[in-house]
Amino acid sequence: MKNLIIISVFLLSGLFAQVDYDTQIQPIWNSSCTICHTSNDTTGLNLTTGNSYNLLVDVASTGASYGGALRVASGDTNSSVIWHKMNNSGTYGGVMPPSGMISASNRALVSTWITELGSADYITIADARNLAVGTNVTIRGIVTTPNFQTSHNEFGLQDATAGIIVFHYGAPFVTTTVGDSIEITGDLDEYNGKFEIVPRKFSTPALKM
Ligand code: HEC
Repeated sequence: MKNLIIISVFLLSGLFAQVDYDTQIQPIWNSSCTICHTSNDTTGLNLTTGNSYNLLVDVASTGASYGGALRVASGDTNSSVIWHKMNNSGTYGGVMPPSGMISASNRALVSTWITELGSADYITIADARNLAVGTNVTIRGIVTTPNFQTSHNEFGLQDATAGIIVFHYGAPFVTTTVGDSIEITGDLDEYNGKFEIVPRKFSTPALKM
């Protein structure tokens, strides 16, 4: 029995994210980065509380020679500009902060956070369709229709279990192609009897898997 409990605790700790963004990662930005990375920052990377996450995770960098590489690529430290800069690899320009690397323990925390982002829970589209309007879910699927709109996004997404319409009003307008594999985190909605998901964050690099 005791072994069973130990195994269960071990499994649970593996299943749930260990690093909490607000209490463990944001304080690192506050103490080492926000002296420069505010809303005035020329790179557009505002690392202050409430802004940082949405400007980092699966968002393309703006550095002229970085080729649009993601600032933070969910689950993949080696594809993340921030990881290279914080560890002074030289791949994407100079070290961050420019005064030199921060502690190894804080850099490790950032690495773990990035790695854990890759294991974000997603559910099947069939399961999503059984949830209430307003529920926030992450789903993955294949784009199965062209965009029905010209200045908005509205297209069909399917996985092995079901299909759903993805709808996003106005900017940013994202180009999708039938056959694309994408992941979307958004709120379930119903519009004139049509069940759909409205993405919370919508940008091309964030969508492609
Ligand atoms: C003294 C000012 C300063 C501090 C402190 C600073 N940065 Fe920067 N950061 C810059 C400047 C200037 C650039 C643009 C040049 C470059 O890309 O290296 C930049 C660029 C970046 C980029 C690339 C953004 C893009 O879209 O191209 C990332 C990521 C970044 N910083 C992360 C951090 C992190 C994380 C910290 C804290 C651990 C930090 N920076 C601390 C000045 C600073």
